[in-house]
Amino acid sequence: MAPQLPEGAVMYEVYPRSFSDSGDDGIGDLLGATQRLDYLRWLGVNLLWLTPFYPSPLADGGYDVANYVGVDPLFGTLADFDMLVAEATMRSMGIVVDGVFNHTSDQHQWFVDSRSSRNSPRRGWYTWRNPAPDGGPPNNWISVFGGSAWTYDETTDQYYLHSFLPQQPDLNWESPEVRQALQSVLRFWFGRGVMGVRVDAWDWTGKDLQTFADDPVNPDYDPAIDHDPYHRLLHTNSTRLPRLADYLRALEEVAQEFSGRFIVTETYPAGRAELGSEYRAIFDQYTLGLSTPFVFGLMWSEFNALEVGRFVNRVQTVLRVGEVPMYVMGNHDSSRLASRVGEPAARAAAMLLLTLPGLPVIYAGDELGLVDGVILPHQVRDPAAKQHAKLGRDPGRTPIPWTVRRPKAGFTTGTPWLPITQPSAMSVEAQLGNPRSTLQLYRQLIAIRHTESSLERGEYGPISVSHPDVFVYVRRHRDEQVAVLLNLSGYDVRFSTLLDGGKRLLSSELDMPASDISLRSARLRPWEGWVVRLG
Ligand code: NOJ
Repeated sequence: MAPQLPEGAVMYEVYPRSFSDSGDDGIGDLLGATQRLDYLRWLGVNLLWLTPFYPSPLADGGYDVANYVGVDPLFGTLADFDMLVAEATMRSMGIVVDGVFNHTSDQHQWFVDSRSSRNSPRRGWYTWRNPAPDGGPPNNWISVFGGSAWTYDETTDQYYLHSFLPQQPDLNWESPEVRQALQSVLRFWFGRGVMGVRVDAWDWTGKDLQTFADDPVNPDYDPAIDHDPYHRLLHTNSTRLPRLADYLRALEEVAQEFSGRFIVTETYPAGRAELGSEYRAIFDQYTLGLSTPFVFGLMWSEFNALEVGRFVNRVQTVLRVGEVPMYVMGNHDSSRLASRVGEPAARAAAMLLLTLPGLPVIYAGDELGLVDGVILPHQVRDPAAKQHAKLGRDPGRTPIPWTVRRPKAGFTTGTPWLPITQPSAMSVEAQLGNPRSTLQLYRQLIAIRHTESSLERGEYGPISVSHPDVFVYVRRHRDEQVAVLLNLSGYDVRFSTLLDGGKRLLSSELDMPASDISLRSARLRPWEGWVVRLG
């Protein structure tokens, strides 16, 4: 069957709270996002993924959904959402929403019913178990956000399972009723015109609900170097069980009822080791061409030619024709890309992301080269920070600076919900006025991706190069070929390749006109990258 995944698109992640506030409550909203569509159109992105805006007590920034088919008043109304879809469609952009389907909020009516009595018709929608003989939790599974994955509930003298916060009880995907209810949610959003659904915490839906066997201890865990106690165990029984493939079918069935709709899952290879080759097994579950996993490895590998090259080459080697990887280099769960790889390297990272195969995902603000915001202890909002300050995700979630004016930066007329501490020069306004800015680089990279068919849909081939700090690959579509050359070091490098040369379309420094060059022998400045049309 013909794949429905929108190959050729570029997706942009909007964290609505931090994107644009149409009012003065300091929290971004749907209307605010609609008001920025012309900017996004100018940037050239085609798909906008909005993280949750549903009614929620906001225990986990909205990833605790109390009603899947509504809009939290903080973010607006369903009519605002419809307007966003309509306005985006007019600009040839599609909307992608978040499907937080592993868990609900403990305030969701489904859970309220489930917890009310052991005989509740919705009891089996969640996982309830008797205490262990000593009265403790039923097994050793732990929560991503710390502590046991089980919380005792006095009302019925049982524990319920939550892979994340206690306010985020896990749905029981073995229940056909749960799957049907979630299918209805998908139908609701596809019916409202969304193009895709990003399914949250996908790995956690596939757990061993037959034996509830303990998770084994991770022999490699060293608390002295790893701040995340979740890594203390290997989550072989509480995540990623093969039933995921069947569950995915349930979602794909709904996507199939509509035309051109797709699903992307938040999936991590076991242990997050991400060698790349694990993607064969993952893609084997995504056979209908309607869904695909995010590929996160570039967020964890060292940003050097050896590691990056090894990872990308491995992923690309295991992929088959028609499989569309969604490479991610930044999102609302991590430190900002520019803070992770270093500001001088961030432009090379942009070139990498936007010249790889598949459907790249840009996290809002990375196109500005934003660095992590400075969050003082009394400003912390993220529950993950309670486990360990280093795990807090607020620094990567600070609002987008639209203008040079501080402290509101054109984001709101009120007080921003998190402070905007990045320099004014990083704002959209400042960068629009600078022809060599990071923002202009993203725009040009996206434009080139859309005009060079080899970048949009070409095959990938690594190229040997004489220097260990340079990563080179070619993208080929029919008789069009583009080479990407990246110096992933802070030094000037001279290198040679067996490629003849061609027309350099772009340097990441944006300071050289397009010109014919040789690639037999060439020189790249620190962290510089080139896109060269061969032949
Ligand atoms: C992944 C989301 O991206 C993250 O923000 C959230 O905390 C967890 N899933 C739980 O829903």
